[in-house]
Amino acid sequence: MSGHPPRPLASRLPGVAPIINQWAVITIVLSGIALVFGVVFIRRGNREAHMRAMLTASALATVFLVLYLTRLALGYEKAYAGPDGWRGAYFTLLISHIILAAANLPLALGALWHAWKGLRAAGNLGNIDAPAARPSFNRHRAWVRWTVPVWLYVAVTGWIIYLVLGRYGEVVTG
Ligand code: HEM
Repeated sequence: MSGHPPRPLASRLPGVAPIINQWAVITIVLSGIALVFGVVFIRRGNREAHMRAMLTASALATVFLVLYLTRLALGYEKAYAGPDGWRGAYFTLLISHIILAAANLPLALGALWHAWKGLRAAGNLGNIDAPAARPSFNRHRAWVRWTVPVWLYVAVTGWIIYLVLGRYGEVVTG
């Protein structure tokens, strides 16, 4: 027993947590870009490309979640140490980002669930107006009305927060 409190894991693995943090923001921004491609594809009527882009966006968001949770487990945290005049704006952005990031997971799962149910009922993406499939795709459309803007907001604000903390952040743990 040395009597010292245990040091956070991140401080015993110097340099790892900032790299994980960097990759987390890269994956969430790429997922936002894949999402925009997915919306453009469906607007143009290309359902196959839409499905692939949205599955890519979902996979990237899952990688983001794993990296983010790893960073939390390592105990790496940065605090805002920028101009006081911007503190209120920064925290408003941060809190809205956290709340909507948590909401994004069930929203994305709901959108995917109805798309998958619709695809199973339709058999293929050329048959989405089949009576058995139509209700699922209508629900898919209803869910994505919320999923897409929330996802984009989370991706863009996540990137902004990363840039702000890169300029004005102080490592408090790790
Ligand atoms: C979470 C991931 C997804 C998001 C955010 C998303 C988003 C969207 C959006 C914005 C639309 C246009 C809605 C409208 O015009 O009102 C749409 C339609 C559509 N999506 Fe997705 N999508 C996702 C995953 C998928 C997947 C995996 C499939 C494939 C099974 C799929 C199949 C479709 C189809 C077939 C339509 C056209 C529905 C219709 O015309 O009624 N989507 N989606």
